[in-house]
Amino acid sequence: MTRFAKRIGGGINPAYGRIFAMFDQPGVISLGDGVPDASTFPAAELEKTTKEVFEDFKNDSSFTNKLFSYWESAGVPELVSVLEERYMGKFESGNPEKDTLLTFAGAQQVIDLAARVFLDPGDTIIVEENSYGGAITAFRSYEANVIGVATDEEGIVPEALEAALKADPNVKLIYTIATFSNPMGIETTLARRQAMYDLAVKYDVIILEDSPYFELRYSGEYIPSIKSLDKTGHVIFAGSLSKIVSPGVRLGFAIGSKEIMQVIGAEKDNQTIGNPGLIQLAVAKYLREYDLDAHIAEACDLYRKKRDAMLKALENELGGVASWTHPEGGFFLWLTLPEGVSGDEFSAYVAEQKKVIIYPGSMYRPDGKDINAVRLNFSVPTEEQIDECIKRIADGLREFMK
Ligand SMILES: Cc1ncc(COP(=O)(O)O)c(C=O)c1O
Repeated sequence: MTRFAKRIGGGINPAYGRIFAMFDQPGVISLGDGVPDASTFPAAELEKTTKEVFEDFKNDSSFTNKLFSYWESAGVPELVSVLEERYMGKFESGNPEKDTLLTFAGAQQVIDLAARVFLDPGDTIIVEENSYGGAITAFRSYEANVIGVATDEEGIVPEALEAALKADPNVKLIYTIATFSNPMGIETTLARRQAMYDLAVKYDVIILEDSPYFELRYSGEYIPSIKSLDKTGHVIFAGSLSKIVSPGVRLGFAIGSKEIMQVIGAEKDNQTIGNPGLIQLAVAKYLREYDLDAHIAEACDLYRKKRDAMLKALENELGGVASWTHPEGGFFLWLTLPEGVSGDEFSAYVAEQKKVIIYPGSMYRPDGKDINAVRLNFSVPTEEQIDECIKRIADGLREFMK
């Protein structure tokens, strides 16, 4: 038998196996994904800027051209500067005097590296009660305890956070998706952001603020990032181009204190020796030469319609039976089923009998508890598919509860 490290793996929940088995079956519609609508990808623009990058190389093929070299591990300077202007400037998530911005292969690499530089085996990381599965598994691979803390529609409950910090001196990190969370679609209020930051300072732990969705807002007012409240270097802000440009570019960034980013940058060297120059150069040109805000506004118009279609379909089909979050942005909505309904069993039933893929709440919980909730994605399906899926889910629920 192949002897993998103890920290790898664990078996797969049989309910998830039943859902995954349905993926490629004919007639199946997925509300399970976490990706943008493919029609939003700026394919023609990136084709053009990629060609221009090659043209630039033809005009200067010396070593100083980064196209075919190893280059700055910190990120190709053209990309770093355009991201600094946008995220430390326009959105004020970081202070150019005190903080450093580095590029990464998506926010996922930031998550992994933050865990790597802060968590010794047995250390604790606090997350929202329902959180991003890809982060939970990354934290576990550093043999950390991942603790979910009570979270309501305003974000992590400060009293619960303080109790968890008090109870465990080995807490090193708080991981939060404060804006349009995956999986719940909720947004932490400004007061709760401030409370979270104050507690991080009081107990001297670092907050990893993972924010790949914050620019995808369909209603409501912009809430400043936790990083923008940071006066002491306790917050790392992770951003991503995956949801606003495309996941395939594999580009994200992090903004943190100079001290922290130096250590994270050194560990990034150990992993990858920088990210590919070609895509960084092509994306930097894209960000400089095209209007990203206009691109995002267009995508938001599309997603707003889809969100509204899902909310309306839920009201029509499940009003009075189930409850759900009302996201102001992002890709997800959290559906709470009637008391006692197993999210694991219901998701598997809906996949097999109704040919709709949804993921159970347990997938997003560090305790893996089977709860009466599921995550629904509205960014990928069409409005017609959303209507159809919610009908099938409602039919499925009636049958399932018999
Ligand atoms: C909350 C959250 N963080 C990080 C990621 C990964 O982002 P990236 O593609 O930038 O690595 C995702 C992707 O779904 C996500 O939902």
